[in-house]
Amino acid sequence: MWRKGEELIWLSLNVLLFWKTFLLYNQGPEYHYLHQMLGLGLCISRASAAVLNLNCSLILLPMCRTLLAYLRGSQKVPSRRTRRLLDKSRTFHITCGVTICIFSGVHVAAHLVNALNFSVNYSEDFVELNAARYQNEAIYVLSFSRSHCGHFYHTKKISHVTQSKDPRKLLFMTVPGLTGACMVVVLFLMITASTYAIRVSNYDIFWYTHNLFFVFYMLLMLHVSGGLLKYQTNLDTHPPGCIFLNQTRNPDVSLPDVLSEHFHEPLPGGFSNPEGLNRNTFVKICVEEPRFQANFPQTWLWISGPLCLYCAERLYRCIRSNKPVTIISVISHPSEVLEIRMVKENFKARPGQYIILHCPSVSALENHPFTLTMCPTETKATFGVHLKIVGDWTERFRDLLLPPSSQDSEILPFIQSRNYPKVYIDGPFGSPFEESLNYEVSLCVAGGIGVTPFASVLNTLLDDWKPYKLRRLYFIWVCRDIQSFHWFADLLCMLYNKFWQENRPDYVNIQLYLSQTDGIQKIIGEKYHALNSRLFIGRPRWRLLFGEIAKYNRGKTVGVFCCGPNSISKTLHKLSNQNNSFGTKFEYNKESFS
Ligand SMILES: Cc1cc2nc3c(=O)[nH]c(=O)nc-3n(C[C@H](O)[C@H](O)[C@H](O)COP(=O)(O)OP(=O)(O)OC[C@H]3O[C@@H](n4cnc5c(N)ncnc54)[C@H](O)[C@@H]3O)c2cc1C
Ligand SMILES: NC(=O)c1ccc[n+]([C@@H]2O[C@H](COP(=O)([O-])OP(=O)(O)OC[C@H]3O[C@@H](n4cnc5c(N)ncnc54)[C@H](OP(=O)(O)O)[C@@H]3O)[C@@H](O)[C@H]2O)c1
Repeated sequence: MWRKGEELIWLSLNVLLFWKTFLLYNQGPEYHYLHQMLGLGLCISRASAAVLNLNCSLILLPMCRTLLAYLRGSQKVPSRRTRRLLDKSRTFHITCGVTICIFSGVHVAAHLVNALNFSVNYSEDFVELNAARYQNEAIYVLSFSRSHCGHFYHTKKISHVTQSKDPRKLLFMTVPGLTGACMVVVLFLMITASTYAIRVSNYDIFWYTHNLFFVFYMLLMLHVSGGLLKYQTNLDTHPPGCIFLNQTRNPDVSLPDVLSEHFHEPLPGGFSNPEGLNRNTFVKICVEEPRFQANFPQTWLWISGPLCLYCAERLYRCIRSNKPVTIISVISHPSEVLEIRMVKENFKARPGQYIILHCPSVSALENHPFTLTMCPTETKATFGVHLKIVGDWTERFRDLLLPPSSQDSEILPFIQSRNYPKVYIDGPFGSPFEESLNYEVSLCVAGGIGVTPFASVLNTLLDDWKPYKLRRLYFIWVCRDIQSFHWFADLLCMLYNKFWQENRPDYVNIQLYLSQTDGIQKIIGEKYHALNSRLFIGRPRWRLLFGEIAKYNRGKTVGVFCCGPNSISKTLHKLSNQNNSFGTKFEYNKESFS
């Protein structure tokens, strides 16, 4: 979950909305008759709908990525605490999604009961109020027994126990019923396609199914415009529960003896159930039938703002990304990694941010995120990404950018210059890694290709470290094979030399770990001597590392950043939350992407 305080606000809002709506439908005089007809099902369906409204509107906000990136970068979010909250946007999105699923279940169950009750409690006195429409021939029986909707005070009244409308027809032959059923199907598809297993095995299924959210919102708008649930409009002239003598409709109706005696006496409060009338009961008599009107669909108020914001953002992103980038060079690195350097007019980005690549020649529909490893600066407009070939899209992209003969470069990078396919970029978008320059001490841990966000941070420090708050950086990089270090070996060496020359050897502490090897290995090349002396075999011993960092940075707050396999981030998160005897505070900053 995200931070405790915000969790509590979100939770309280949900509970408050649920409870207030529940009470309104349970006790509100305008829903007296509807409540008698539907009972608890009404209260639960409406209360769950209120929670759904809230979450259906909130869930869109964390997906307004451009807006969030703008907020993070602008001076409008001055506190680190608030900026760190933005990192939790994906978690918040998921939490809202799960809440929508749970309350949709509750809402559907309550409406199934409502449909049944509409049907069972069908009454001709409340035709306007009842969603069921009586169709078959009536069978009347005399009854004093338990009944609803205005029949109860009439001793001679005949209760309607006809074959009332089949509840299934209510579910599938009304706009709210039909749209509700379709929404359940859409939601089911979205939930199943969002599971970790599907996202990892076939991200495209997740992506396309998730975009059904737009259909979901359209159905939702239609769903609430059905107007099946109504409130009473004439409470002044017809206090709920009052006795209305409808002589024209039922000329044979007469007032029960018990009521005749109290004909002009008011019923206190006007809400008591006339079923329980006895000689001491005060009864309110009214001269008008209850009149009902459909509720105004409040969902529109909840959803239209965030939906418009999200659509505006999508439109802005479309416009912003419709010009292709100019690819300057493509470099093939060892271990199936490709570096692309590009320029684009007016493109600005901060270290740690990522972009979304779109190459129509590879796929007309797919877009893939990649972190910038080099950001454009005032003096040079070039920016770049490093992408690892892991699946079909990256493979096809590589084949288009590089001819097969140049793909086997094992150690030295191979630079290609030729005609490239059109590539479009969307972004930049913010990430927690941007914050690494804003701590005095930062611990950046990378696993494999997860080094990319830190590469842009290191490139920025290489340009100039003075404008930033950062004064000590622990950079830990774990890889499976020695060649992987070549992706950024030059950058690391240059950085190392720069701080030595500036007499600041403590500024950056580099530790490289080779996790899978049988014996000692070295990064090939004389110039990498400094790196080889910082190369360790095996996985890092995290606890020991945290202990050392705590010892050398007593009483300070260390920003912890991790990008790589989930298992590393889980370990680091746990360790960051543990106390140490040096009073050093580790603040964990990571949003999991997988
Ligand atoms: C914010 C972010 C930054 C990233 N930065 C880099 C980077 O700098 N360098 C790099 O090599 N990789 C990066 N990745 C991972 C990269 O996006 C995927 O490796 C790539 O999309 C794989 O596509 P594919 O079709 O070749 O492989 P697939 O076989 O389709 O996917 C391999 C894995 O990548 C993930 N993935 C696939 N498509 C997407 C997508 N559209 N969006 C998000 N994840 C997807 C899936 O979880 C899947 O398990 C980043 C991912 C994210 C979310
Ligand atoms: N969000 C972003 O900006 C971004 C950017 C790029 C990549 N990524 C993600 O980063 C991930 C890294 O991909 P990859 O395939 O390159 O990684 P990988 O090769 O699977 O793993 C990299 C290294 O991490 C080590 N490792 C794993 N768990 C560990 C643990 N608990 N403690 C210590 N070391 C551990 C591995 O050691 P062993 O060999 O011992 O297992 C390996 O050496 C991918 O999921 C990718 O999507 C994210």
